[in-house]
Amino acid sequence: MTATLITGIAELTTNEAEYGKLTDAAVVLEGDRIRWIGPAADAGPVDARVDVKGRAVLPGWVDSHTHLVFAGDRTAEFEARMAGQAYSAGGINVTVDATREAADDELRATLRRLVREARAQGTTYLETKTGYGLTVADEARSARIAAEFADEVTFLGAHIVPRGQDADAYLAEVTGPMLDAVADGVRWVDVFCEAGAFDGEQSERVLRAAAERGLGLRVHGNQLGEGPGVRLAVRFGAASVDHCAYLTDEDVAALAGSWDGSADTADTVGTVGTVATVLPACDVSTRQPLAPARRLLDAGAVVAIATNANPGSSYTTSMAYCVATAVLQMGLSVEEAVWAATRGGAKALRADTGDGAVGVIRPGARADLHVLDAPSATHLAYRPGVPLTWAVWRAGRREA
Ligand code: NIG
Repeated sequence: MTATLITGIAELTTNEAEYGKLTDAAVVLEGDRIRWIGPAADAGPVDARVDVKGRAVLPGWVDSHTHLVFAGDRTAEFEARMAGQAYSAGGINVTVDATREAADDELRATLRRLVREARAQGTTYLETKTGYGLTVADEARSARIAAEFADEVTFLGAHIVPRGQDADAYLAEVTGPMLDAVADGVRWVDVFCEAGAFDGEQSERVLRAAAERGLGLRVHGNQLGEGPGVRLAVRFGAASVDHCAYLTDEDVAALAGSWDGSADTADTVGTVGTVATVLPACDVSTRQPLAPARRLLDAGAVVAIATNANPGSSYTTSMAYCVATAVLQMGLSVEEAVWAATRGGAKALRADTGDGAVGVIRPGARADLHVLDAPSATHLAYRPGVPLTWAVWRAGRREA
């Protein structure tokens, strides 16, 4: 196995309490893991060296929420929205029609292109969802194709009731044959708990069926208004509830309470609760209020930042844009936003602990590094919109 020493790191964000943020640091990668971090002079023998010449290094972005198995285009819907029309869940059906008509290779080509686009911008670990097929065959196909490209796959048959179908009959299909068809190929099950999609009782049926099969749970909740999504997610021990734009004090307290008081030491191995995943690009692109990430952090909740890349509500793969927005418009510090987009995302996928952990830089973690063309992570917000990715290592392989 080749060992590569990376030197000249002006600022190394580790996301690990034991190491903190290091200056003038070095990292040794071996195979697909990080072998060592510390001052360059103390590194053992290596096979290769890369000098990043005074640049900042972070863990690769962990994008814990995307919908990338789709076909078709919704530019016209976006234009209408910018002209004043409100976003509604109903637009999902436009993408469902196009996705059902698409050949496998068309779906594959789009997914490949978008995953490449994300990786070139520093994303090294990515979740994606089904949810634009909404028949047994189309959801199974989406799950299969997603698994070819994504690190984590989520079944979102409960995205919306397809046009012309009865909600109860459709839910029986989702929680029965559809779940059976995808269960072996997915880790997570998600439900869109929102007016215009599924109500609390219907969402509960989906979560219960998924839990009975031993699958991990996620919820889309509180995107377009207050509702039961957040509290349902906490009650079922979901790994994450995503959107969180409209939160009551009770919702915020439930999210903070799910960590049992340990949120301010969220680097602790084994800490498990429900992460509040905020999606700044979606909030902006749908002209919804920005999720109250500051309020969540102040209350002691654990927050992740993700892109929600999809053709309807948030057509971007840029985690850097989301981080800059979280700092400039949501009141997070750079440090908080970077943590939320790396270790926070990894926590939302329960992938930040143990051997091969992501979202962290420490010995034994997966060798996922993002080198910025800047001396510090502050430049992500200080220079918004500027492409700052200088190099990317994913599982030890140089990707960009
Ligand atoms: O996360 N909220 C539900 N699903 C997507 C929207 C997908 C779409 O509009 O196509 C979301 O925003």
